[in-house]
Amino acid sequence: EETGKSGYDHYMLKEIHEQPRALRQCLRGRVDEMAGTVDIEDLGDLSPTGVQFVACGTSYHAALYGAQLFRNAGIPAQAFLASEYATSVPPIGDALVVGVTQSGETADTLSALRAARKRGARTMTVTNVVGSTAARECDHAFYIRAGPEIGVAASKTFSSQQVALNLLALGMTRTVDTRDVITSLRELPGNVQRVLDESAAEAVAEVYQDADAYFFIGRGYQHPVALEGALKMKEITYKHAEGFASGELKHGPLALVTEHTPVFAVVTGDGEQARKTVGNVKEVEARDAPVVAISDGQTDVARYADHVLEIPETHPRAAAVLANTHLQLLSYHTAALLGRNIDKPRNLAKSVTVE
Ligand code: G6P
Repeated sequence: EETGKSGYDHYMLKEIHEQPRALRQCLRGRVDEMAGTVDIEDLGDLSPTGVQFVACGTSYHAALYGAQLFRNAGIPAQAFLASEYATSVPPIGDALVVGVTQSGETADTLSALRAARKRGARTMTVTNVVGSTAARECDHAFYIRAGPEIGVAASKTFSSQQVALNLLALGMTRTVDTRDVITSLRELPGNVQRVLDESAAEAVAEVYQDADAYFFIGRGYQHPVALEGALKMKEITYKHAEGFASGELKHGPLALVTEHTPVFAVVTGDGEQARKTVGNVKEVEARDAPVVAISDGQTDVARYADHVLEIPETHPRAAAVLANTHLQLLSYHTAALLGRNIDKPRNLAKSVTVE
């Protein structure tokens, strides 16, 4: 077992560190950087007029991110919690229904895909496991190629899903200017390595390990990152953590913000959206909450933050992967300080095969 961990204390930490390699594998042979194009093998000529994602847990957060990628390329797309999808299947038309599932065995996701198929939808899975039930049952399978993940809490499979969904969105839509995105994807493994080498997340974890609750906020591509940051924190530290769209904070959650609730704010880019999130950060800072900014330095959010977790400047889509890397390390180190059973958190299973 110790050798399986390659010297790391936990599989999860090993898997967090395997991300640069996993992302390279995901990209390999699928991107033509010279031409600025993506070539997705074996998927035929898929150019859907709509996409419906179904997924659970961490994979649902990847699906929320994926839906934004498609919408921003002009294709109507929505992400559904798989367990809710089957209760009222939305009109399908000729939408492609995509099940995002690391294991390819999650019962809720398989049910949602079956419900879609019954209504005549074409289906696809984005999965890590060749030969899984989802891969066998769907019309198409797109593999994230992350390698086996042992830790119950998903880490490298999430970032590999993010990259795979970028490839799908680029490959299935004819977006005009893809070169910047493709360059940012090619630079991503190296940038993740930089974050892993330089992250101050362990020091931040030490400062806030005794907090009562943790909040995570982000907007746009960084909203699913905030949700995932909170889920990871819950799963492995057993602490109360919530993720919110930055703009929603003032519509309720702000009532929970005190000097005892650190707020982790993901702020990337320099556009209007980033500036609005900085505005939300000011609101929590004014209520004496400790603020940790995950920032690429393009806004002045550091002025309102107690700590900054830095990420290199890149395309906002790639920034979402880099910000998540810090938050993985934050949860991991908090859980380690609290002595939690990181690779097998209580009450949780790697793959849930019951509805
Ligand atoms: C379980 C795991 C989660 C995972 C979810 C979906 O709840 O504990 O980490 O995100 O299942 O798994 P899937 O294999 O469908 O991605």
